[in-house]
Amino acid sequence: MTGATGLVGTHLLIKLIQKKHQIRALYRTEAKKEAFKKVYLACCRPEDQAAFNTIEWIQGDLNNIPSLTTALKDIYQVYHCAAMISFNPAHYRKLRKINIEGTANIVNLCLIHNIKKLCYVSSIATLSENPSSTPIDETAEWNPESSNSVYAITKYGAEMEVWRGTQEGLDAVIVNPGIIIGPGFFDSGSGYLFKKINKGMNYYTTGTTGYVSVQDVVKIMYILMNMSITKERYILVGENLTFKSVFTMIAKALNKPEPKKKISPLLMKIAYYIQLLNRTIFRTKRNLFKSSIKSAFSNTLYKNEKIKKELTYSFTPIQTAIKETVSFLKKEA
Ligand SMILES: NC(=O)c1ccc[n+]([C@@H]2O[C@H](COP(=O)([O-])OP(=O)(O)OC[C@H]3O[C@@H](n4cnc5c(N)ncnc54)[C@H](OP(=O)(O)O)[C@@H]3O)[C@@H](O)[C@H]2O)c1
Repeated sequence: MTGATGLVGTHLLIKLIQKKHQIRALYRTEAKKEAFKKVYLACCRPEDQAAFNTIEWIQGDLNNIPSLTTALKDIYQVYHCAAMISFNPAHYRKLRKINIEGTANIVNLCLIHNIKKLCYVSSIATLSENPSSTPIDETAEWNPESSNSVYAITKYGAEMEVWRGTQEGLDAVIVNPGIIIGPGFFDSGSGYLFKKINKGMNYYTTGTTGYVSVQDVVKIMYILMNMSITKERYILVGENLTFKSVFTMIAKALNKPEPKKKISPLLMKIAYYIQLLNRTIFRTKRNLFKSSIKSAFSNTLYKNEKIKKELTYSFTPIQTAIKETVSFLKKEA
């Protein structure tokens, strides 16, 4: 497994341990492995705590081919969860290196080592918006003309590497999750939103997007990996929700006031230019980018019929995933 020290990887590892699999996990730093251990021990079943010691850890990097060669030797399935997540155009080269080149390395080594199957975690970011504003399904074509984020471009490039691998004989499936909600890490991903709302966040934007519980993501990845399905992609979205409704659910679960102020696109644009100016003059960090502002105000809906039908699957309500995440956050505090 790559990305074992991330949100998806941690919960997937817990799932694989429950299923009594022998796991080899790639990690980059001891500090991240320690952070993983803390979340693993807090989230796994008591009877699986000792199994932490059965994980075979390989220190490596998606761009370090010798470390990957060691990691992929004598195994039969690869879950590729590692990626760099950033919407900052300044990170474009690094994103390409990790997400596209790193995935190409994984695919090439899967082919060399005769890996039976690869499951790659992509994102709904690679599914271009539907011009007719109807809900998006797995047939959505990539639109290079659209103002795609640097993250989306590189996740799409990574998908192309996986499809290339399938043409060369590799069995693979791709999952395209929406925003993933689940307990674990609060300095990145959706976890950061929980942290911000916990500190008090009084505003929201008017967009809509797809959300999914991390438990659903890892359950579905496991099922797909152990079925004969190959060369298919699946949208993993439990519910399409407005930012306002998600922020409100999080605030209520945290016993914090719900966000009441609607931010207009104009105000957001002004904040964007102020950040840009500050970065130029004072070298300050920025967290507003054109693509993230666009997402904050887009109303994009995703269909989940394909996975529901093929696996007869029912998704966890997002409210349940939010409550689980909040109860973990409260225990950690
Ligand atoms: N979180 C979401 O809402 C979301 C939504 C849709 C799709 N996805 C996709 O789901 C996957 C997992 O996301 P996540 O939320 O678990 O992300 P995450 O918590 O940020 O974890 C990312 C993982 O990738 C590893 N990684 C990054 N660069 C690497 C490199 N060069 N070599 C080896 N490992 C590297 C990280 O290692 P370190 O711990 O050492 O940094 C970490 O284990 C990603 O592919 C992401 O694009 C996420």
